[in-house]
Amino acid sequence: MSNSAIILLGCLFLKTCGSTATTSSKPNILLIIADDLGIGDIGCYGNDTIRTPNIDGLAKEGVRLTQHITAAPVCTPSRAAFMTGRYPLRSGMDHNGEYRVLMWLAASGGIPPNETTFAELLQQQGYTTGYIGKWHLGVSCESRNDHCHHPLNNGFTYFYGMLFSLFDDCDPTAESGIDIRGHSRLWLYTHVVALANLTLFIGKLLGLVPVSWKVLSLLAFCGFLLLFSWYLTFGMARYWNCILMRNHDITEQPMKLERTASLLMKDARAFIERNRKGPFLLVFSLLHVHAPLIISEKFIGKSKHGKYGDFVEEMDWIVGQVLDTLDKEGLKNNTLAYFASDHGGHLEIKKGNVQLGGWNGIYKGGKAMAGWEGGIRVPGIFRWPGVLPAGSVIDEPTSLMDIFPTTVHLAGGTLPEDRIIDGRDLMPLLQGKVPHSEHEFLFHYCGAYLHAARWHQKDIGAVWKAHYMTPIFKPEGAGGCYDTTVCDCTGEHVATHDPPLLFELTRDPSEAEPLSQDTEPRFKEIIQRIDQAVEVHRKTITPVPQQLSAINNAWKPWLQPCCGTFPMCWCDKEQNKAINSRSKG
Ligand SMILES: *[C@@H]1O[C@H](CO)[C@@H](O)[C@H](O)[C@H]1NC(C)=O
Ligand SMILES: *[C@@H]1O[C@H](CO)[C@@H](O)[C@H](O)[C@H]1NC(C)=O
Ligand SMILES: *[C@@H]1O[C@H](CO)[C@@H](O)[C@H](O)[C@H]1NC(C)=O
Repeated sequence: MSNSAIILLGCLFLKTCGSTATTSSKPNILLIIADDLGIGDIGCYGNDTIRTPNIDGLAKEGVRLTQHITAAPVCTPSRAAFMTGRYPLRSGMDHNGEYRVLMWLAASGGIPPNETTFAELLQQQGYTTGYIGKWHLGVSCESRNDHCHHPLNNGFTYFYGMLFSLFDDCDPTAESGIDIRGHSRLWLYTHVVALANLTLFIGKLLGLVPVSWKVLSLLAFCGFLLLFSWYLTFGMARYWNCILMRNHDITEQPMKLERTASLLMKDARAFIERNRKGPFLLVFSLLHVHAPLIISEKFIGKSKHGKYGDFVEEMDWIVGQVLDTLDKEGLKNNTLAYFASDHGGHLEIKKGNVQLGGWNGIYKGGKAMAGWEGGIRVPGIFRWPGVLPAGSVIDEPTSLMDIFPTTVHLAGGTLPEDRIIDGRDLMPLLQGKVPHSEHEFLFHYCGAYLHAARWHQKDIGAVWKAHYMTPIFKPEGAGGCYDTTVCDCTGEHVATHDPPLLFELTRDPSEAEPLSQDTEPRFKEIIQRIDQAVEVHRKTITPVPQQLSAINNAWKPWLQPCCGTFPMCWCDKEQNKAINSRSKG
């Protein structure tokens, strides 16, 4: 079915295709989300050696938020919160188990069908809604093609991109990025059984082992089965997870990373051109700057910060190309453009001494750390010429969850009333009509554990932050968990604090010196106020099905997206597509 047919059908169902006069007054909405980008990686956030002219330009023409906070420090829960406007715990997308993100494309967990995304509400208001790039919010529930978690079942009329996330296995030249730590015992058992089998077999051949051939072949068969399932699940990860899809169809399995970024960029530009009559919503969810760092030739060796710097500069160029398309189509003044990152930069990924992850500037900690600012404070820029004041900077606490009510409001929709929405409409703040954001408290979760909470005491302009739990850095004083590449949320590698560690972020943004009763006379009162808010907040969390539980996060062959006959899943249809899209114009 062509896109226009889908839109037409959508119109018929939703009866929203009114006069063009009402729809054309609604702004287009372009949301660009980077992956793993640190707040310290960007020029307009204080980096003076990296070149990000396009993102800096967006800030110059728009509003730059300096305290823009993600609901979680890792991809899946942060993105779930972004799409639903709710803390990820409310949709079951944050978990107290071993896994904090979806581990397989063929896992059954994902954004629950009964959650409402802002795209669904915008669609009801007559928007053409597109999602291009990384999803990482699940695919199917019960059978291979039910696609219950897919963007097309979550309010989008168009999807192109990667339903999973980049990881090292997507790059055939890199070492496996599979979390061997999490599966090391399974690996050990599998290989011990295989080795034992081999020893027995040799023993039998030499006449040293008195077992029958029958028993031996049974053992060998079991060993083979174990080994096979290990390699099927873990050795083939590139085929299982690194897939490019257009709408419901796989176009590349596995994807060819060296051309993915440019395919996505071209597709984003084409989406804008196709929908120039508007109103449209485009979520452009970049694969940059998550490892592996596959950089196009034009940018290799061009930055002052090695491969990672090159990758950031390439990302900025891509952002610029998409913004240029808005300009060329004359849509700039009628489009709310937004740029943010899904969480902080990943400090611990290094190869030798070479940093392959992001930089969080003056903020402590990074990706996977929920309490420390570095994990959750990200760039946040809005531009809408003529509506938002150019070049303004806002220090108030805001959240990525605010996108939900903000866009729904702009589209003329209403918020769902049967559930709690944690985000707040940002327009009054962005337009300078109110001095403060509506957020008084924000809660900072690591998995299902509440690690910290912030209190914006508006009357005195203070931002207090209490840490109930903090990861124990290794090596000590290193600022990260370099022994395991991510910090844990609970257990022996996490310290609990009673009373909590207290900081005042406007005075001490780097969270360097915890306050005490001696240095802060109101210490007890402040902690009490935050404790009380945490308690009230906890009462609003109700148990829901756990999308990231071990069972929902396991690889399930019957859910594996497959371009071919399972398990022989491979194809490359991008060539054909390039020709088709050209003929469509
Ligand atoms: C700029 O970004 C690079 C790459 O992340 C980082 O190494 C460098 O320290 C940053 N510079 C500043 C001044 O923040
Ligand atoms: C777009 O908005 C800016 C700022 O209000 C204004 O200066 C410019 O003339 C507008 N451009 C068009 C094409 O309307
Ligand atoms: C979605 O369904 C689950 C399971 O039935 C339920 O617990 C949850 O409250 C529902 N969520 C919403 C927003 O209705």
